[in-house]
Amino acid sequence: MSTINHPNFGAMNDKRVIIFDTTLRDGEQSPGFSMNIDEKIRMAEALAALGVDVMEAGFPAASPGDFESVSRIAENVKGVVIAGLARAAVNDITRAAEAIRAAERKRIHTFISTSPLHMKYKLRKEPEQVLEAVTSSVTLARSFTDDVEWSAEDGTRTDIDFLCRCVEAAIKAGATTINIPDTVGYAVPEDMLRIFSTVRERVPGADQVILSAHCHNDLGLAVANTLAAVHGGARQIECTINGIGERAGNASLEEVVMAIRTRPDANPYHHNIDTTRILRTSKLLSTITGFDVQPNKAIVGRNAFAHESGIHQDGMLKNAATYEIMTPESVGWQKTSLVMGKHSGRAAFRDKLNTLGYGDLGENALNDAFNRFKDLADRKKIVYDEDIVALVDDEVVRGNQRIKFGSLEVWAGSKAKPRALLELEVDGEKKIADERGDGPVDAAFNAIHAIFPHQAALQLFSVGAVTEGTDAQARCTVRLEEEGKSVDGQGADTDTIVAAVRAYIHALNKLITKRARTAPEALSA
Ligand code: KIV
Ligand code: ZN
Repeated sequence: MSTINHPNFGAMNDKRVIIFDTTLRDGEQSPGFSMNIDEKIRMAEALAALGVDVMEAGFPAASPGDFESVSRIAENVKGVVIAGLARAAVNDITRAAEAIRAAERKRIHTFISTSPLHMKYKLRKEPEQVLEAVTSSVTLARSFTDDVEWSAEDGTRTDIDFLCRCVEAAIKAGATTINIPDTVGYAVPEDMLRIFSTVRERVPGADQVILSAHCHNDLGLAVANTLAAVHGGARQIECTINGIGERAGNASLEEVVMAIRTRPDANPYHHNIDTTRILRTSKLLSTITGFDVQPNKAIVGRNAFAHESGIHQDGMLKNAATYEIMTPESVGWQKTSLVMGKHSGRAAFRDKLNTLGYGDLGENALNDAFNRFKDLADRKKIVYDEDIVALVDDEVVRGNQRIKFGSLEVWAGSKAKPRALLELEVDGEKKIADERGDGPVDAAFNAIHAIFPHQAALQLFSVGAVTEGTDAQARCTVRLEEEGKSVDGQGADTDTIVAAVRAYIHALNKLITKRARTAPEALSA
């Protein structure tokens, strides 16, 4: 394989694999995973620190909110290529170009469907029209930036001869990356190997561009298919944190990256990911979206490095390699440790945050997090690193909010009707409500309604534990829905009802921000 000279990466070593993260685009567009702009920027900064090479920040033509978040990421997040997605349409491509304008390094990613099914039913276009659109869209994108990626949507179900013609047209028009997505997660590894090898061998100029794989997980094969594509010549991997994405999701970044790192004999490639930041990035995404990964999720699941059976534990004590193919530390797990107590001061807390990777918290967020830590240390016997991570993420995702939690007292039990006395701060003004309900959570939510009347409907309420034990912090998720739009809010606290109230007002604040962009008068108290 010859060396490729890439506009954003320079001379590329043949074994180097570009990690293209699409958590903020393919991931964010899946149901329940939407993020607001501040959350996207926080996530984008975490992805940059993780070492992704390209970050697909969004789909600027999809909505004004998408446009704004891509522009803000382009302005603020440095050291990584920022990509904006665009269909093969003039308006899409121009919007993408405008949104990424401020980026240090930029890319336009344009796509069109190429499979018979998509061309006939979705696009209602003849193959020759699609070919023309490939040339015109890539040519237009190239007028804005040297780094253009072209994707053949539903590429793995495309006739291979037609796929090769499209790829050739895209390369001739100036595309520097060619992505062949397995859009519906239909392929098996043998297909991927064959498709990528064929394109490389047959298409003139294919050895001068980066080939890319974008695999969906409908058959649970996204990671295997991605690796097979790399064996066939792909040198860019499109993936997401925790494998989030349309339907069953995309190839999971952490799995692909660790498969390459753990099995260099089978996958002799390299990437720039700082794997020790994987867990923290995964947890940040869970905190922002409110979806924890399943316990047995590879790499980042709670059980990924847990050894329960006596035989395994015995082996582990003798030599960890008996049952561990990678060290937990290599992906960011830390030995569970007693971090600090209630006598620890601000300096120790700041120091702890640094070791946990939160060196860049602003002074206000640091102060708020420190106060909550002191409060937690008063109530909880053992404060683990995980507790601090949950608490700080909880604080950081909140930012400047109109409604702030003040205090809560609850009376509940099997006899009296549960009662909640709640104090909130709304636009800087303290407000109190004393309400009853069909349970303590219901009473507390009624109190929120009394202080801040609103029409949003509660769609989901879930509770999980941050660590083990009866004094563990609860992490709650609340989903509110208004006029067909839903948002998720999260809250953590040792008191489950307080965590629930925090989650509720987090969701309410998100709805207020969302509505303010379209109808400023809505949702006001
Ligand atoms: O799955 C897919 O085909 C996509 C394209 C837009 C790249 O997400
Ligand atoms: Zn996709």
